[in-house]
Amino acid sequence: MTNALSTNIIQVRDLIKSYGSVPAIKGLTFEIGKGQVVGFLGPNGAGKSTTMKILTGYLQPTSGTVKILGIDVTENSIEARHHIGYLPENNPLYEEMMVMEYLEFVAQMRQIPKSKRRMMIDKAIHACGLEPAVRKDIAVLSKGYCQRVGLAQAIVHDPQLLILDEPTSGLDPNQIIEIRSLIKKLGEEKTVLMSTHILSEAQSTCSRILIINDGKLVADDTPLQLTQQEGGSIYVVVASNKKIQLSKTEVSRQLASIFGVTKVESIDEYKDAGVAMIVSYDKQDPRSDIFQKVVSLDWILLEMRRKEITLEETFRRLTKE
Ligand SMILES: Nc1ncnc2c1ncn2[C@@H]1O[C@H](COP(=O)(O)OP(=O)(O)O)[C@@H](O)[C@H]1O
Ligand SMILES: [Mg+2]
Repeated sequence: MTNALSTNIIQVRDLIKSYGSVPAIKGLTFEIGKGQVVGFLGPNGAGKSTTMKILTGYLQPTSGTVKILGIDVTENSIEARHHIGYLPENNPLYEEMMVMEYLEFVAQMRQIPKSKRRMMIDKAIHACGLEPAVRKDIAVLSKGYCQRVGLAQAIVHDPQLLILDEPTSGLDPNQIIEIRSLIKKLGEEKTVLMSTHILSEAQSTCSRILIINDGKLVADDTPLQLTQQEGGSIYVVVASNKKIQLSKTEVSRQLASIFGVTKVESIDEYKDAGVAMIVSYDKQDPRSDIFQKVVSLDWILLEMRRKEITLEETFRRLTKE
């Protein structure tokens, strides 16, 4: 039992949280193992920030348990927090402080022994590429540098686990790329749980994705698996063997008769006398059946390819009411 627990950095069981009579988290159970970089996705109001505040010991759950490295955060939040670095939503910083001053203040609050403070702060500064900003006031920093400061304060005590709430929100595209690659680098040494509503971010940064909707987990998978679930669509272009134009209605009727095909939509005119269709299916990829059908009708297959399902589409399907 103890062994099984020690491989889990986060263990969440039957977590429920209501604000007054309003339920926000409606029963979450999941585990995150050492070294994983996990994306926590969900629409606004899904419960991401609430979950993260409970995980970091800043908010009490209504019921359920959260263990960080086997330590119950409700019963022993101070000990659990030693192992956690937390970047809250909107990254609250003390604007009137200099970066160095702020990190010293955080190190002190984290009770890092005086003898080690300097070394640990320098390490965090270096890891976050903050050298050019150490003597500047936080108030004058760009949003990208503020996020670096937020990350530096999260890692200054060298925790095993990082919990980052929308770490790239509000950044411009260049800053997003910088912070994303910083998180990726931190993820080589630490377990990371980061929330985002930018799906491509989760796809490029995370090895696992949890999707939450209305306080419940609706998916837990790799980015690849999430985009390769059952169903999809095929782009097909066919033409007649003879010198005549095929009718869209006929092509549509023939393709719709194939087993597993759920919908056939014609799309705009195709040059070279072809008829172009999008064929949707719900289970097995019907490409070989489409090919057989086209051959049996003595038509020509000009083009056929599977349309990639994006994480966006998967997300929308899983989170719509
Ligand atoms: N302090 C609060 N008081 C009351 N309701 C809250 C509070 N914080 C969040 N909520 C509600 O809880 C739900 C989840 O919010 P939140 O965890 O912030 O979602 P997310 O971070 O996914 O956008 C929402 O319906 C939100 O309105
Ligand atoms: Mg939030």
